[in-house]
Formats: sequence, C-alpha cells, structure tokens
Amino acid sequence: GLPARVRVHEVGARDGLQNEKAVVPAQVKAEFIRRLAGTGLTTIEATSFVHPKWVPQLADAEELFPAVADLPVDLPVLVPNERGLERALALGARRVAVFASATESFAKANLNRTVDESLAMFEPVVARAKDAGGLHVRGYLSMCFGDPWEGDVPVGQVVRVCRALLDMGCDELSLGDTIGVATPGHVSALLTALDGAGVPVERLGVHFHDTYGQALSNTLTALRHGVRTVDASAGGLGGCPFAKSATGNLATEDLVWMLRGLGIDTGIDLGRLVATSVWMAAHLGRPSPSRTVRALSHQ
Ligand code: HMG
Ligand code: MG
Repeated sequence: GLPARVRVHEVGARDGLQNEKAVVPAQVKAEFIRRLAGTGLTTIEATSFVHPKWVPQLADAEELFPAVADLPVDLPVLVPNERGLERALALGARRVAVFASATESFAKANLNRTVDESLAMFEPVVARAKDAGGLHVRGYLSMCFGDPWEGDVPVGQVVRVCRALLDMGCDELSLGDTIGVATPGHVSALLTALDGAGVPVERLGVHFHDTYGQALSNTLTALRHGVRTVDASAGGLGGCPFAKSATGNLATEDLVWMLRGLGIDTGIDLGRLVATSVWMAAHLGRPSPSRTVRALSHQ
C-alpha cells in the first residue's frame, strides 16, 4: 500500500544550483532556502563542502551556511572527505552526506577515485561524524540504474556499495538515478534485490532525475515498495556537472501535486513553493522546467 506521509528531501539549493554556470550570490541562495523553509519543507540540503575548483557555484558554503543556520529545519550538507567534514563541523552542521558511486567511471569523474578508494575516503568521515556528537549521515549512491559511460548498471553492483555504506555507519541511503534513465521495472528490481540483501527499506530514499520523464512513475513505484523519503528539487532545477546528459531533478512541485492527489501528506504549501520557484527562475533568467510550476503560474 501507499504511506500516509512522505518526507521530501529538498535538494534545489545544492543539486539544483551546482550546475548553474553563472554564480548565484550567496544572499540569493540564502533567500531561496528561507523561502523553501517557509513552504513547510523540513529537510533542505543547503550546500556542499567540496573542492571549490570542482564546484565553483558552491564555493561560498562558508558564507551561505551561517546565513541560514538559524532556520528551524534540517540543513544537510555534502562532505566528500575529512577536509569537507571539518569545514562543515566548524560551522555547526548537524547533518552531512557522503556521496559514492555504483560505477567506476563516475567515481573517477566525480571523486577522482575508484569506487573502493572513495569508500575508504568516506569511512573516517562517517566515523568522525558519529564521534562528533552523533551527526546524521546520509550516504548518496549515484548511477544506481544507468551510467553515461558504462550503460546499464547491474543490480548486484549497486547492492554491494549500499551494504558498504550502511556497514560503515550511514543512517540512510539515497539511491540516485543521476542521469534519469531509470524506469519503474528497474526501480522495482533494485528495491527487491536490496530487500533480499537485508537492506531495511525504512533507511532508503530515492533520488530521481527527470531526463526521460520517468521520475514520477519511478517515485510511485518506490512508494509501493515501502520507500518513505523522496528527494526532489524546487522547480526541477538541477543536473550534475560530472555526468553528461544529467538534467534536472524530479521537481518538488510535481511530486507534491501527485502526493496530494493520492491523499499523502507532506506538510508543504504548494502555492508558496510555486511562488518560490518562479522567484528563483527570475533570478536564473529562464522559466522553470516543472510542468506543475508552469501550470500553476503565469511565467
Ligand atoms: P582531489 O583533487 O583528488 O583532492 O579531489 P585531493 O584529496 O587530492 O586534495 C587536493 C587539494 O584539494 C588539497 O589542497 C586539499 O586540501 C583540497 P592542496 O593541499 O593541494 O592545497 N581539498 C579540499 N578543499 C576544500 N574542501 C574540500 C577539499 N578536499 C580536498 N572538501 C575531491 C577529491 C573529493 C575533493 C573532489 O573530487 C571533489 O571535491 N569532488 C566533488 C564533486 C561534487 O561535488 N560533485 C557533485 C555532487 S554528487 C551529485 O551531484 C550526485 C547526487 O546528486 C546524487 C545523484 O544524482 O546521483 C548526490
Ligand atoms: Mg543528483
């Protein structure tokens, strides 16, 4: 059956903006996050403490994070290594996320490491995050379905890295369809395999990009398998600078529209969310790709 409530993990300020060529001023990002918090979203990924040369758009993390830290919402941040964790801890972050890859090609492109070298890089990060007062740690796993260089990704390869992330102490996993090629049958097969491998579905989230327009169907499939955490990006912003052919994430508005129709509570005010995405679209200088934003606004 379907859940009564779904937790939306908003990634617009991080995944949504990281691919924007023109640097968005930190004050605009902070205002975006404030407006998102005003819609009832409770988990808003704020930024990444990565190498500034790798993701120039998020090089202002030290300025941005303190500007939103007072908000009464969870503000997870990405940390690839111990240097990133130190930067996040220095600003009082309470939730961090490491980000692994199910494929060697993307591990190389995104982290300059093999899959196993990147897992070895995350191990002390997760351990220290736990020691430093029990931070909540999310483990992202990219390329869970298809990879631009390797094609279809075998389910067993995904299960192996999921197990490794859980074994090192991640509290939750987010299954990423980085380039948006997944379809519902594949989602079903992966979730069935993870269940068979003893991965508790309560610890899984799904992270779909909408390249082929399958993100909502994939989400509904995941909900039917018991998943209760769904990543989405306000207005459908997004893409990944290290994965050619990645487009925006599932739009939060499209997700909320579907969930509302199903009678599933998210606590999110859709009107305010649409207004926030229209406001952000004006800053970025192009309309939101979200169908729901377009339908409910006059942009
Ligand atoms: P590297 O070049 O191998 O780094 O990059 P290194 O460990 O060799 O260090 C080189 C230099 O970088 C050193 O400085 C470090 O101090 C510095 P030097 O001694 O030469 O002066 N450095 C740092 N500086 C600031 N903050 C740091 C940091 N780390 C090292 N954290 C590294 C390795 C992991 C750092 C690099 O590859 C990187 O930053 N990658 C980030 C890529 C990224 O952010 N990708 C997007 C997020 S993932 C995603 O979008 C997918 C997701 O949405 C899910 C999905 O859709 O699938 C999550
Ligand atoms: Mg992503």
